[in-house]
Formats: sequence, structure tokens, C-alpha cells
Amino acid sequence: MTLQALKEELARFGADNDATHTARAQRMLNITPDTGALLGVLVRATGARRVLEIGTSNGYSTLWLAEAAAAVGGHVTTLEHAADKVALARSTFDRSGLGAHIALVHAEAGAWLNAAADDSIDLLFLDSERSQYLGWWPQLRRVLRPGGLLVVDNAVSHAEQMAAFDACVRADPQFQCVLVPIGNGELIAVRSAA
Ligand SMILES: C[S@@+](CC[C@H](N)C(=O)[O-])C[C@H]1O[C@@H](n2cnc3c(N)ncnc32)[C@H](O)[C@@H]1O
Repeated sequence: MTLQALKEELARFGADNDATHTARAQRMLNITPDTGALLGVLVRATGARRVLEIGTSNGYSTLWLAEAAAAVGGHVTTLEHAADKVALARSTFDRSGLGAHIALVHAEAGAWLNAAADDSIDLLFLDSERSQYLGWWPQLRRVLRPGGLLVVDNAVSHAEQMAAFDACVRADPQFQCVLVPIGNGELIAVRSAA
């Protein structure tokens, strides 16, 4: 199976699954395909070799990130705390041919971030539990290297839940922000190079 066919299979599976489950823990909550394409362009355009994703689910968005990271000689570390989602993602990655470019970490993101090194991430994709983002901000900005890119999903679809975090990032003099109305809306913020 090609990577494109696997992505299309996962997109269909996620849509069908989420149409029949209302409990958040049982939903895949995948990004849209055009958001995946945007992530791929951003990784390639910035030559991001150290990509961090927070919120793996079954690995759909990871495939877009890892495909692009592989093209620039990089890799993706993706964090997921739910064991059932980790198992689904592992199966996805085993089928993808991109396993060498993906480190799937079964961990709670806040704890993982606390232990991560300063300036160690080139591009960080945040698609997790929105109520945590504000509390994570000191660590998110610390691990992102100068000149690095932060991309946050659901900036339009869940604008109210994102409001305090969005304001915090925009108020940080180290970051320049733009809202891109693709998919569920992506907040993109670049950390100043110096
Ligand atoms: C919106 S889904 C991710 C969808 C995925 N990025 C995609 O587009 O295919 C959010 C995921 O974050 C995970 N998550 C929520 N809070 C977390 C935390 N504190 N640490 C790690 N993972 C977390 C959830 O279990 C869920 O699978």
C-alpha cells in the first residue's frame, strides 16, 4: 500500500469512527487533509529536522509530518498518553514505511516537556488537550529553538477554548503569529531567531 493510500484509509476510518462515537477518548479527532499538506509544506520549507508532535491519536497527522521530515533528513517525536491510541499509532507506523523517522512516545506531554532540553525542537505541532496549553507554555517556548515554528490546531474551530493561550503567545515579544484558516484553523507562531 502506498503512503497516500494509507493516509486516505486513515482519513476515512477517522471520519467514520468519529461519526459514531461521542466520547472524546474514543474519537480519532484527526486533522484535515489540507492541514496535513500545510504541515508538510512547513516542515519542508523550514527544513525542520527535529519535529515534535503533541497528540498522536492513531498517527494520521504524524504521517504528514514524518513524510516531510524524512524528505529533509529529519524525524518526528510524537507524544500520546492513551494506551489504546498508542497501539493504533504503532500499527499505523508499522504499515507506513516511515518507522525509521518516527519515535512514538507513550507519555504525558507535560511531564515529557519538563524533561526536554532547551532549544531542541525545530517545529512543534500542538494538537492535544487544549485546557493544558496555557500551563505548558513556559516549556513549549523553552524547547522551541530560536527561529523555530509552533503550529497549533483548532485555533478557529475552538477559538473560545484557545483564547487565553492565543493571547499569551501573541503577547510574547519573542513570537510572531498568524492565524491560517485552513482545516480547523492553525495558529502559527515563529520564535525570533535571536
Ligand atoms: C486531537 S487528538 C490528536 C489527533 C492527531 N494529531 C491527528 O490529527 O491525527 C489529541 C490526542 O492527544 C492525546 N492527549 C491528550 N492529552 C494528552 C497529554 N497530556 N499527553 C499526551 N497526549 C495527550 C489524546 O489522547 C488524543 O489522542
